[in-house]
Amino acid sequence: MIKSFQSMRRIVFGVGSLEGLGEEIRRLGGTKVLVVTDPGLKKAGVVDQVTAVLEKEKFGFSVFADVEPDPKVDVALASAAAAKAWGPDVIVGLGGGSSLDIAKVTSVMLTNPGGIEPYFGMERVPKPGVPLILVPTTAGTGSEMTSICVLSDTKNRVKKGVVSEHMYARTALLDPQLTVALPPRITAMTGMDALVHAIESFVGRLGTVFTDTLNLKAIQLAAANLRLAYAQGENLAARENMLHASAMAGMAFSNTQTGLAHAIALAIGGRHPLPHGLLTALIIPWVMAYNLIASPAKFVQIAEAFGEKTAALPQIEAARLSVKAVKSLLDDVGISYKLSDYGVPPEQFPEIARDAAGAQRFMRNNPRAVTEADVIGLLEANY
Ligand SMILES: [Fe+2]
Repeated sequence: MIKSFQSMRRIVFGVGSLEGLGEEIRRLGGTKVLVVTDPGLKKAGVVDQVTAVLEKEKFGFSVFADVEPDPKVDVALASAAAAKAWGPDVIVGLGGGSSLDIAKVTSVMLTNPGGIEPYFGMERVPKPGVPLILVPTTAGTGSEMTSICVLSDTKNRVKKGVVSEHMYARTALLDPQLTVALPPRITAMTGMDALVHAIESFVGRLGTVFTDTLNLKAIQLAAANLRLAYAQGENLAARENMLHASAMAGMAFSNTQTGLAHAIALAIGGRHPLPHGLLTALIIPWVMAYNLIASPAKFVQIAEAFGEKTAALPQIEAARLSVKAVKSLLDDVGISYKLSDYGVPPEQFPEIARDAAGAQRFMRNNPRAVTEADVIGLLEANY
């Protein structure tokens, strides 16, 4: 059986690595930069930190700072229009997953004709984009390592993805100093999303020795550091470990895709304005309990990565400890995994189940077969 693993080109990391941004732009032959980011980071002065580096090194630059959380198709079109007006030779994406996703899609919209519609789906973008440097300020979506852009189609109440190998960054720059100001609640939600990526990619059907290695390390790092990053935001070692966990999970799941927790999260997220990381976090314990009979050995490894004592137990009992460990982490970072706490009405369960069970990109990797009735059962059992 022929398998493959692919990733982005170069990772620059370490405390203070933002200072190296100019050098990274020069490596790519860049002279004229577009920074794609969001208004919150502009207000917080983080964009100024980046443009100060660009100014000092005499690059021409323009800033598009209108990316919103869970960006709509319109934001991608506006960013592409700004890019076409400025004509950059390097794009720097700065922010959480939304800004990085918009930076990625902007890069390929500059070099490929038409709007965005033809590019939704898997590998439909014909030509490479403008070289991309992605700088995450959360840990995270892992978006800096993936070839995916997720957009909201508000008209049809769905999330749609552009997946293209042309959207891989040339360089990801991981500076933990950019994440220390994240409030605890956002640290918890984004950190859990990174952990969910690693878990779903790790237990899935499409895992390989390469993705398993990255995912297991990401799970170990998140298990050991998320509580600390949440409790002690300025702890640079915890922040750096979370940034690396997020990036490693991103490298992995860009190859495998994720699974049922993401399918349900996107189906709910298309109908309710709940943060993506909160949704995947609250859903993952239900989905782990559902999936574990299909891949118990992997779940035992997850339990062990959390420090659970599995040696004296039958395999299936040891596997169940992984669910207990993740629930304990959620309790400690203040995330309820009870659906009724989030205002999702049971009348919507059938349509959520239909969308989730029909999401092929996730279901291809999910270890256990899933029907609409199974999803409704999960939603009801965890309401
Ligand atoms: Fe996610």
